Amino acid sequence: MAGERSANLCTCCTSFITSTGLIIIFLWLTLRTQQPKCFIQSLYLPSLNKTITSNHKHSKNNNTIIFNLKVTNTNKDKGVLYDTVRLTFSLFLDANTTRPLANTTLEPFYQGHGRTTEKWSSAEAHGGGVNRTVNGSVFLRVDFATRVNYKIMLFYTKRHRLSGGANVEVNVSTGEKVDPKGIRLGNTPPRVGSEAAPVRNRWIALSTFLVSLCFYLTY
Ligand SMILES: *[C@@H]1O[C@H](CO)[C@@H](O)[C@H](O)[C@H]1NC(C)=O
Ligand SMILES: *[C@@H]1O[C@H](CO)[C@@H](O)[C@H](O)[C@H]1NC(C)=O
Ligand SMILES: *[C@@H]1O[C@H](CO)[C@@H](O)[C@H](O)[C@H]1NC(C)=O
Ligand SMILES: *[C@@H]1O[C@H](CO)[C@@H](O)[C@H](O)[C@H]1NC(C)=O
Ligand SMILES: *[C@@H]1O[C@H](CO)[C@@H](O)[C@H](O)[C@H]1NC(C)=O
Ligand SMILES: *[C@@H]1O[C@H](CO)[C@@H](O)[C@H](O)[C@H]1NC(C)=O
Ligand SMILES: *[C@@H]1O[C@H](CO)[C@@H](O)[C@H](O)[C@H]1NC(C)=O
Repeated sequence: MAGERSANLCTCCTSFITSTGLIIIFLWLTLRTQQPKCFIQSLYLPSLNKTITSNHKHSKNNNTIIFNLKVTNTNKDKGVLYDTVRLTFSLFLDANTTRPLANTTLEPFYQGHGRTTEKWSSAEAHGGGVNRTVNGSVFLRVDFATRVNYKIMLFYTKRHRLSGGANVEVNVSTGEKVDPKGIRLGNTPPRVGSEAAPVRNRWIALSTFLVSLCFYLTY
């Protein structure tokens, strides 16, 4: 009798633990979110287009920056509501130094599951010609910052900060972005010709993990 009861208790206990575990895994899968990715697809500086400037003198003073921003929501079952997207453009004066050029904003927008959005916009550069070259090209620093709410079924999560930046090489005689592919606005440092940064970030992540592990084992 006693054995049977403890066996029942044991079965009950096991199923309780199993279902709790399943609920936790289900909630984790439902609530887990991935940050959207932002790319500069195109960037064009009409003032550097030699074909225009040789024909029309006035366009030399055109300090417009024309760009296309691509935003990808990689969440397959969650929408994303973007707050105003603030973009800043700076010009590299040398490999380490930048000068602010322009700010612009994009209106808030909503993006459905797994969607990609491309937005054309422009900004007016201030403070003189955008023709300083570093290593033979004009380099711009592009940064963005916004806040996002994820939509899970019918509910919105609290706001999360989303930001990033990248260095964009522009051809000094055509005014077009050199790399035809989109450039991810991620955690690239504002320095021309630095490839070491992602490796260093990986080291920081690894050492943070090891320090946490030590704390965990000690206490
Ligand atoms: C540069 O200017 C020429 C002449 O106006 C034009 O045909 C060409 O499309 C321009 N380049 C870009 C990248 O827009
Ligand atoms: C600069 O050039 C672009 C593209 O050619 C044009 O859309 C824009 O109106 C021009 N801006 C000024 C101030 O001339
Ligand atoms: C950029 O910074 C690095 C490291 O701080 C330095 O070694 C290098 O000389 C700097 N380059 C320029 C052009 O200022
Ligand atoms: C861009 O905005 C920042 C702060 O919002 C400001 O400090 C900076 O002067 C602005 N730059 C230009 C070129 O408008
Ligand atoms: C850059 O632009 C300034 C002002 O528009 C001009 O005086 C200078 O000659 C230009 N430099 C080059 C290398 O084109
Ligand atoms: C800039 O464009 C010209 C003409 O298309 C090309 O000959 C040159 O190689 C380009 N420069 C860079 C750095 O891509
Ligand atoms: C300058 O350009 C050369 C050839 O494109 C490249 O090998 C070198 O890494 C560049 N230097 C910097 C600081 O970007």
